[in-house]
Amino acid sequence: MNDKRTTLKDYVIAENKAVVRHDPVVLALMRKQLDVRQYKLYAAQRASVASNFVRLVLKAADAARAMGDLALAAALDANADDELGRGGDGIVHAERNHRNWKLAYLRTLDIDAEAPDFPLLPGTRAHAEAFLELEAGASVFRMAGALLSLENIIPLEYRAAIQSRDHLFPQLFCIAANDDADARRRKSAARQYLDDHVVHDASEHFPQLLGALEKYQDDAAAMTEICAGVDFVNRHRKHFYQGLAEALGFDNAAMEYFTYGALAA
Ligand SMILES: [Fe+2]
Ligand SMILES: [Fe+2]
Repeated sequence: MNDKRTTLKDYVIAENKAVVRHDPVVLALMRKQLDVRQYKLYAAQRASVASNFVRLVLKAADAARAMGDLALAAALDANADDELGRGGDGIVHAERNHRNWKLAYLRTLDIDAEAPDFPLLPGTRAHAEAFLELEAGASVFRMAGALLSLENIIPLEYRAAIQSRDHLFPQLFCIAANDDADARRRKSAARQYLDDHVVHDASEHFPQLLGALEKYQDDAAAMTEICAGVDFVNRHRKHFYQGLAEALGFDNAAMEYFTYGALAA
C-alpha cells in the first residue's frame, strides 16, 4: 500500500473483493450452481484452511500486549473470547464456541473433517500450512493484518455459501412453519456457524480490529507488515479456490461462463 491516499480500510476491502468477487467457486455458491456433492466438497475443504485460527488470535493478542498496544490486544482478546465462547466471567460456554458451531454444521452435512484420513486438496493443505507458519514466526502486525483480512473476507464468502446451503439442503437448515421445537433447535444450531460469521465478522470483528490498527496508517514500517498480512491471506485464499475449482470439475468453459456472468451482473 504505497499510495498515501488509500486508507487501510479501503485497501483491505478492495484486495479482498479482488479475490472473492469474480471467483468461480464463490460465484457458483452465490448462484446456487453447485450440486450436493460439490457443496460438500467445498464445505469439507473449507473446514480445514485455518484450524489454528484461535491460537493465532491469542498469539497476536499477547504480542500486542508485549509491545504495549493495549487497544489492539483488547480487540484481539475480544475476538478470541467470541471464538471460544468465553464470557466476561472467564467461563467458556460450549454452546457459544465457534468450533462447536462448525462441527454441528459439518455433522449436519455428514462430514467428519477431523477423521485422520480426511483428504485435503493441495491448495487446502498449502493454506493450512501457511497459517501454521504465520503463527510460528510472523510479526504482530503481519498476524493482525492477516486476521483483519480474514474477518472481512469470511462474510463475503459465507454470504454466498448460505445461498447454496439453503437451496440444496432446506430440510436440514431451513426452518419451516410446521417444524416442532426440536426441529427448530436442530436447524438453528446447524445454521449458526455460517449465519453468525456473516453478521459478527462484518459488524464486530472486522471494525473492531480495523479501529485498533488505523492509528498505524502513517507508520510505514507497520503498514508494510499489516498489508503483507492482508496479501498473505488473499494469496492463499486464491490458491485454495483455484484448487477447489479444479476438484469441482469446473472446466475452462464453465469458468468463463461464471466470470462473464459476474462482469455482466
Ligand atoms: Fe468465529
Ligand atoms: Fe470473526
